[in-house]
Amino acid sequence: SERTFIMVKPDGVQRGIVGDILRRFEQRGYKLVGLKLLQAPRALLESHYEEHKGKKFYEPLLSYIGSGPVVAMVWEGLNVISVGRKMLGATDPAKSEPGTIRGDYAIVTGRNIVHGSDSEKAAQREIDLWFRAEELANWSLTVNPWIYE
Ligand code: GTP
Ligand code: MG
Repeated sequence: SERTFIMVKPDGVQRGIVGDILRRFEQRGYKLVGLKLLQAPRALLESHYEEHKGKKFYEPLLSYIGSGPVVAMVWEGLNVISVGRKMLGATDPAKSEPGTIRGDYAIVTGRNIVHGSDSEKAAQREIDLWFRAEELANWSLTVNPWIYE
């Protein structure tokens, strides 16, 4: 099993979609191991988005994600990194399938509601960046036998 970092961006918080995003991951059967709301400092966002430094959307992106509180979370389960990305939908909401989070709630790339780690390496890096070890709960989901074969 693996863990991924999912973040509701400030537009998702403002638009009241936090509960729905939590619900989707919970109801899919994934286990929530970390959750907090915070106004991300600039340095944290610079580190989080270091792969995009220098691109033309970099400054607008940091300004967008820093414009209000975000909800940071860590979810655990089988293939949660790749399945989580599918649940989010394509980066450009115009290409996101209806039924995905972006496909249900977003129109443009620069206001696409949610972030999800794109690889095991990114997930580990982002979880370490956003959470201290003590902020992650080690618990077992007692319904696991009804979720996994
Ligand atoms: P995240 O899960 O947020 O990382 O999205 P992603 O992995 O699907 O996309 P990527 O990492 O390439 O880009 C990170 C974020 O930058 C996107 O989710 C968008 O919010 C923003 N972004 C990426 N490309 C563009 C762009 O061309 N224009 C604008 N305005 N924003 C962009
Ligand atoms: Mg990305």
